Amino acid sequence: MAQVRFAPFGDTIECAEGQPILSAALSQGYFLRYGCKHGGCGTCKVVVTDGDIEDSGSSFALTHAERSAGWALACSSRPLSDCVIDISAMGLTREEFLAGDRVETFDTVIDSVTDLPPTIRGVTLRLVSPPDAVYRRPVRQRRGSRGRYVPCFLDG
Ligand code: FES
Repeated sequence: MAQVRFAPFGDTIECAEGQPILSAALSQGYFLRYGCKHGGCGTCKVVVTDGDIEDSGSSFALTHAERSAGWALACSSRPLSDCVIDISAMGLTREEFLAGDRVETFDTVIDSVTDLPPTIRGVTLRLVSPPDAVYRRPVRQRRGSRGRYVPCFLDG
């Protein structure tokens, strides 16, 4: 069990052996920005300012230079000791950080499917309900980051 403290807010969580930092934070009622949750998109980049971690994320989402500079992916990093993790780059307010991970459900229909070469398809969804819904947690696109992730569950 390792203690992980989040700068700049100062809150501390406990991380079980082998548990990713993102998973521990979300399960203990905190929110960190994330997308894919498997080390592929780079949305959950943080800086390890103290302690040791093991990061199994891809070099696609986090370059060797970033890793050498102390950056890590919260979704694929497991603490090897007590750590301090700076989440300033996520741009969260304290209220957002403390709000936890809220799931919001929207009913949509598929408006169109577009081929986007070489292995990606664009899917346009039209909101059905609630009609005035707004996706409240846009993923901030950083230069060099690739794509956005919104979990979708399809009936049938
Ligand atoms: S959520 Fe961590 S790399 Fe995508």
